[in-house]
Amino acid sequence: MPSLNDIRSTFLNYFQRNGHRIVDSSPLVPRNDPTLMFTNSGMVQFKNCFTGAETRDYSRATTSQKCVRAGGKHNDLDNVGYTARHHTFFEMLGNFSFGDYFKSDAIPFAWELLTRDFDIPKDRLLVTVYHTDDEAADIWKKVAGLSDDRIIRIATDDNFWRMGPTGPCGPCTEIFFDHGDKIWGGPPGSADEDGDRFIEIWNLVFMQNEQFADGRLEPLPMQSIDTGMGLERIGALLQGKHDNYDTDLMRALIEASAHATSQDPDGPGRIHHRVIADHLRSTSFLIADGVMPSNEGRGYVLRRIMRRAMRHAHQLGAQDPVMHRLVPALVRQMGSAYPELSRAQALIEETLRLEETRFRQTLDRGLKLLDDELSGLPEGAELPGAAAFKLYDTYGFPLDLTQDALREKGRSVDTDGFDAAMAEQKAKARASWAGSGETSDAAIWFDLAEAEGATEFLGYDTETAEGQILALVRDGAEIAAAKAGEPVQIVLNQTPFYAESGGQLGDAGLLRSGSAVVRITDTKKSQGLHIHIGEVVEGEITKGQGAALSVDHDRRSAIRANHSATHLLHEALRRALGDHVAQRGSLNAPDRLRFDFSHSQGLSAAELVQVEAEVNEFIRQNSVVDTRIMTPDEARALGAQALFGEKYGHEVRVVSMGMLDGSGKGTDGQTYSLELCGGTHVARTGQIGIFVLLGDSASSAGVRRIEALTGEGALAHVKAQTRQLQEVAAVLKVTPDELAGRAKALLDERRKLENEVAQLRRELAMSGGGAAGVEIREIGGVKLIAQVMTGVAGKDLPGLVDEMKARVGSGAVLLIADTGAKPAVAAGVTPDLTDTLSAVTLVRAAAEAMGGKGGGGRPDMAQAGGADIAGAEAAIAAVEAILGGK
Ligand code: SER
Repeated sequence: MPSLNDIRSTFLNYFQRNGHRIVDSSPLVPRNDPTLMFTNSGMVQFKNCFTGAETRDYSRATTSQKCVRAGGKHNDLDNVGYTARHHTFFEMLGNFSFGDYFKSDAIPFAWELLTRDFDIPKDRLLVTVYHTDDEAADIWKKVAGLSDDRIIRIATDDNFWRMGPTGPCGPCTEIFFDHGDKIWGGPPGSADEDGDRFIEIWNLVFMQNEQFADGRLEPLPMQSIDTGMGLERIGALLQGKHDNYDTDLMRALIEASAHATSQDPDGPGRIHHRVIADHLRSTSFLIADGVMPSNEGRGYVLRRIMRRAMRHAHQLGAQDPVMHRLVPALVRQMGSAYPELSRAQALIEETLRLEETRFRQTLDRGLKLLDDELSGLPEGAELPGAAAFKLYDTYGFPLDLTQDALREKGRSVDTDGFDAAMAEQKAKARASWAGSGETSDAAIWFDLAEAEGATEFLGYDTETAEGQILALVRDGAEIAAAKAGEPVQIVLNQTPFYAESGGQLGDAGLLRSGSAVVRITDTKKSQGLHIHIGEVVEGEITKGQGAALSVDHDRRSAIRANHSATHLLHEALRRALGDHVAQRGSLNAPDRLRFDFSHSQGLSAAELVQVEAEVNEFIRQNSVVDTRIMTPDEARALGAQALFGEKYGHEVRVVSMGMLDGSGKGTDGQTYSLELCGGTHVARTGQIGIFVLLGDSASSAGVRRIEALTGEGALAHVKAQTRQLQEVAAVLKVTPDELAGRAKALLDERRKLENEVAQLRRELAMSGGGAAGVEIREIGGVKLIAQVMTGVAGKDLPGLVDEMKARVGSGAVLLIADTGAKPAVAAGVTPDLTDTLSAVTLVRAAAEAMGGKGGGGRPDMAQAGGADIAGAEAAIAAVEAILGGK
């Protein structure tokens, strides 16, 4: 009996033999379709190949595509577990031709694979064709020899496949398997077609038209093929089963669930095991593709699926979290076909474990509330909407989980009442927001957020994605369109653009919509909306259109490197300086990073060197940067450093990097840096490149600031410095190594020369030169030397005054230095006269005469500054007047 893995390989190999390229499954989060929540069929990744908007280096492809049908339009969640063929996750096998072969090859391929390679008896197969498609009917007759009654013409849209209201489409032919008359049901198109006897196994779409929004159905430039066959269905058929959950792969998961809960796989808990097996697949694959549980968008669909499975595990009597223990069984089954699953195993296990641990804290109480509510209601009555809302709001029960729990009891929920309770809560939020003092400009964001919900951020995993333009805003009001040259703010349903927060600057980049181009210069956040700020540079954009967004890669990479380096820096500082180091602010720009932290004194040179070296050591370690979602308390229990200024909700992202043991990925105790952070980061620390610390300064009282560079910026800085060093070395005619010694020697020499010059000036002043014609006069019985000197600095005056005092023996000295700028003045009085005459009095009078003020010193020596040398004569006269008046 072939396993599902064998069947998948047989399919892919068959088409590879027939000239098809085996293409990897695309991620579950579609990058090229803004309206699609999850990839739900094989053709999604090739959408643009059919319209001719994209060409690849192959024209035939085959895939095994991961698909999720939960949330959004195709939602199978409610039925999973209770039916034989519903899944939230399934694999779609497909072969594709992009303008290569068409019907006359697609039909023979399918027939040969089914009847020869898979060995399905021909008489068990029948097909449908679109009622006008004679060509397909003829090919079937010729190739398969099917009689007319087994080529059934269908006039409905069942045989005209459309990917959505617009896009590529065409008639299709579906292949059915007849399980025989032991099972009730009629052929397609008959009154009993809903029975289980005739099961559709393969859909071949002849892509030949494009549907436009205005109703036009135009031929495509080329004819293409898109086929889809559910692996689980064909697997059940080839394994002789009627129920997809009885295939080997699903059975292995069911048995893992049975083992983990010690409950018989086929006993009363049978449905619970089936739900768990299915949901284990969808949640694990979604996490592997970057979706994290949250209360918005895709993350909320993931959370709904997870919690639904967790309630079923609880129903099986599990006392502890179960889901994460089943992941190894899933990886064993599917890890080699989908390596991303193996790579993400640790993340999947931890995300499931944390979610189940948390949900269990409210699950019991919620279920008790549910029982209490039901016991007070008449037999068969609906659960009031208010009770379902309380379960949602207080106990974390998604509405479909409550409905699922009630289904077992044959009850339902008053969903109108639930919606009313939700609306009432929103009205309360609006009332409290209106009273919060926000500006009226911000009202537009509140209104938009309320109407559209928060923007879904895809930028942790991708820098390009498509989104739908939900609103265009200018000057606080919505506008319908914006054209070239006009500024505009744009809100989309989803975006890869990071909006400024937590110190990380918002992204810049380009938005294209039709033929219009908008240059986005910044992205800000308000009320959960990402607001793209930019200017239309070409064409016109209008509300409601789709748009392709691409983040400026170089700028984002530089910001990412700086942000990750900030985390390493934070930890290095904590280790070097102590646990009191806490973040007080940060800036992660493309060209630099800034980190403010609590610490009262400047860092020593040795500390700076140590911190810089440690950050670089962890960059070179090149370890994986890990992100996980948990509650703030769980994060703190692990020792995560909280970021300053962030408000935390019920859950936080925890970013960890660096390993302390250097051997493989560290456990929590061994992680170097662990921080709560919503920012974007490098995938491995090596991408930071290099870290150069520019210096540390005081930011405010008790807060230091470090500025640093990484990557290209750091390298450019180091290069510029090296160049300057070389230039200086060339000027001084030494090698850069000898530069410090040479500079020191030059400074020593200069100091020596300065001293010599000063000495010579003094000598000159005393001998000839400036002191020539030193005249000793006597005024009021006191000898006086009063002199203006040039070529003498103010600081030389006291020494000269002392020498003059010695020369005069007993008397007073007044020296004025004509420095070319403001004159300096000094006065001296010999000790025998200081009782009656003070040098301070003399110097002040002299300074005042030269437009100066003040002056001070001792009675025997005082100094002051003047403003204008023109007053020198007056200064000498003022001193003479004092002596004369004695
Ligand atoms: N697109 C078609 C489907 O989903 C065939 O792949 O059924």
